[in-house]
Amino acid sequence: MVREDNDSRHGMWSSRLAFVLAATGSAVGLGNIWRFPYVTAESGGGAFVLIYLFCVVVVGLPIMLAEIIMGRRGRQSPINTLRLLTKESHASGWWTLIGWSGMLVGFMILSFYSVIAGWTLSYTTTYVEVIVTGAEGIGDPQAIFGSLLGNPWKLLGWHTLFMALTAAIVAMGVEKGLERSVRILMPLLFTLLLVLVGYGMTTGYFDDALVYLFKPDFSRITPAVLLDAMGQAFFSLSLGMAAIMAYGAYLPRNIPAGSTAMTIGLADSGVALVAGLAIFPIAIANDLTTGGGGVGFTFTTLPYAFNSMSFGQFFGLAFFGLLAVAAWTSAISLMEPPVAYLVERTRLSRFQAAIVVAIAVWLLGIGTVLSFNAWSDYKLFDRNFQENMEFIASNVLLPLGGLAIAIFAGWVLSKADTRDELHEMKAATYGIWRFLVRYVSPILVFLVFLSAIGVLNLNSESDLAMPAETESAATEETVMEDSAE
Ligand code: TRP
Repeated sequence: MVREDNDSRHGMWSSRLAFVLAATGSAVGLGNIWRFPYVTAESGGGAFVLIYLFCVVVVGLPIMLAEIIMGRRGRQSPINTLRLLTKESHASGWWTLIGWSGMLVGFMILSFYSVIAGWTLSYTTTYVEVIVTGAEGIGDPQAIFGSLLGNPWKLLGWHTLFMALTAAIVAMGVEKGLERSVRILMPLLFTLLLVLVGYGMTTGYFDDALVYLFKPDFSRITPAVLLDAMGQAFFSLSLGMAAIMAYGAYLPRNIPAGSTAMTIGLADSGVALVAGLAIFPIAIANDLTTGGGGVGFTFTTLPYAFNSMSFGQFFGLAFFGLLAVAAWTSAISLMEPPVAYLVERTRLSRFQAAIVVAIAVWLLGIGTVLSFNAWSDYKLFDRNFQENMEFIASNVLLPLGGLAIAIFAGWVLSKADTRDELHEMKAATYGIWRFLVRYVSPILVFLVFLSAIGVLNLNSESDLAMPAETESAATEETVMEDSAE
């Protein structure tokens, strides 16, 4: 059925660029700037990067395209979009669960995302203070980080501020809030990133970082690394919880969805790689390993490096400012679907809906705040409250959501409908998309899901921590490759 364009009642993006900036703002977040470099380091650099990029193209982009065209066909919040599309396709109402699960996951991710984003706000202000007072550095990063995490009131304060900032943008609406904010924040983000890479180039270790990121060591690749790369691609592109679907609802029909999705994917991976090129030279120059894991690396190791660098306080400010901005534009996209839904279903104004959602997320976030202090010993399945939220959201519900979205777009929506949405695509490109979304993505995502819930048990820590020697000795090819070198 060829569809006429109609505007979403929530507003519309004013241009293709506006949508690209908003969706890129959603995708580029804490996941790109601290998780990507750290996971890359643990998984052996270049080979991981290669597989990650493969996953972005083969699994991520097809599902992103599916979310965009589903959103654009429905023109409503994800739940009501799915309600409409299932009705049109005479499919089971159960598919609406994609929207409900997405809303739930959005709440869960946002609740801990906000607390961690609060840390970036805290560090940003610390660096401003250092610069204003002319102090040498920020002091002992380990002690600073420890005293931040140990103090629930501090954490709660920053969490509250971050939620307020996020709700304020969402409350102002699609054009005046979302679009206007990304038009300012995304150029700022790119500028900060370039400043950091520029600095990285002057450390004299830029080449080492390049080799590290792009020279593949295939002996480090295990099934666990493969699946890790896939999970990273998923989370980084904001897929699986209908956030991109919500943004797709505001996309005018005359804008080609295919090339637009490509641009967003490219920008997201580009930022991850460039962030790696900014961080690794600094880390190598200061002889710092990424050992301590994601959280520790970003909030303690890098500040140590900044302390010992000339103008380090300015780069500290640029780095944590960058993280804060990236987290902010991602949080906005996590909040939009439930706010749009409340506006559709209740008499609440967008402003009131944003406050209601913010309060609910804020309350849930208290669990994360306490996970780092008062509740740190309360564990279920060996994970504290925050870790359980993150596990259930990212490792269980996101992959399931992505799987369902791929199946919906590939098998439930008719070929005529998806072809209508993607009419500007060449027949061959459309054919590839449909094949990927019907067969390849669901199967690969299903494998990720199995690994995430531990059925395949490939993701165990011990597997990742295995020294490179042991791994390469395990296969004959790599032994031969080693001796040939
Ligand atoms: N993509 C963001 C990051 O890399 C996080 C994020 C924002 C997200 N919205 C999302 C993840 C929706 C999954 C689903 O940090």
